[in-house]
Amino acid sequence: MLIKLKIFRFDPNKDEKPYYQTYEVKADPMDRLLDCLNRIRWEQDPTLSYRWSCGHGVCGSDGMRINGICGLACQKLVKNFKEEVLIEPLPVFKVVKDLVVDLSFFLEKYNSIKPYLITKSLPPELERSQSPEQQRLFEEAIRCILCACCTASCPINQNKETESYIGPAALVRAFRYLFDSRDEASEERIALLDDKDRVWGCQTLWKCTEVCPKEIPVTKQIGQIKKRIYESKHPK
Ligand code: SF4
Ligand code: FES
Repeated sequence: MLIKLKIFRFDPNKDEKPYYQTYEVKADPMDRLLDCLNRIRWEQDPTLSYRWSCGHGVCGSDGMRINGICGLACQKLVKNFKEEVLIEPLPVFKVVKDLVVDLSFFLEKYNSIKPYLITKSLPPELERSQSPEQQRLFEEAIRCILCACCTASCPINQNKETESYIGPAALVRAFRYLFDSRDEASEERIALLDDKDRVWGCQTLWKCTEVCPKEIPVTKQIGQIKKRIYESKHPK
C-alpha cells in the first residue's frame, strides 16, 4: 500500500517559519510509522530529523504527535491509519529541528524530584530486601520510559501561564520512590511534592493516562501522592 506522511519541518538555522512536507511511502500494513520515517530518510530525504533508538517501545526516544495524539512512532502500525498521517513534534517543547525537541526542561524537572532511592540507615549485610507485595505497589511506575508523551499532552503544561507545573512524568517517578518500602526519605519527598507547581498542579484531566504508551495509570498515581500528602498532615 501507499501511505502519505505529512510531516512538520523546521530548521531554525535556515527556515523563517515551520512548514509541512508530504512524502509518499510504500508500506506493508504491518509496518510501523517508524519504518516509514526511516524509509523516507534513507531513500528520499536525508535531511529529515527525528529521534529513535530501540524500535521496540523501550528507549522512549521517538515520541511525536501523530494525527494530533502523542505517541511512539515505533508502536503505531500503518494498517491503523487512513491514507494520510499528520506527524508533528511533541508540543510543549522547543523544536530543535523537524521532529526533534529540546527535552532539557523536561529532564531538569524530572531530576528535581530526586529520582533515586534515598537511604539513611546502614546497609544490611546482603541487600535491602522487599516483599513481592511491597514491590507491586509501584511496579507499574517502573515501566516509565521517559518518552515525555504525557507531559506534552497535559493541558496544564500546554498553557503558558501554568507551564511551570512539573508535569506527569516527573510525578510518576516521584510516586515510584515515595511508595518504595526501601526509600527512607518520605518526609523530604512529601515536602518537595507538596506545592502548587508540583503535585497540586495536576487538575486530574487524564490526558497523560490516555496517551501513555506503557499504560501506566498516571493520573491515579498522582492522586495517590495527593492522598499520601493529605494523610501525612491529617494522621488518624
Ligand atoms: Fe512516557 Fe508514560 Fe512515562 Fe509519561 S508516564 S513519560 S507517557 S512512559
Ligand atoms: Fe525506542 Fe520507539 S524507538 S521507544
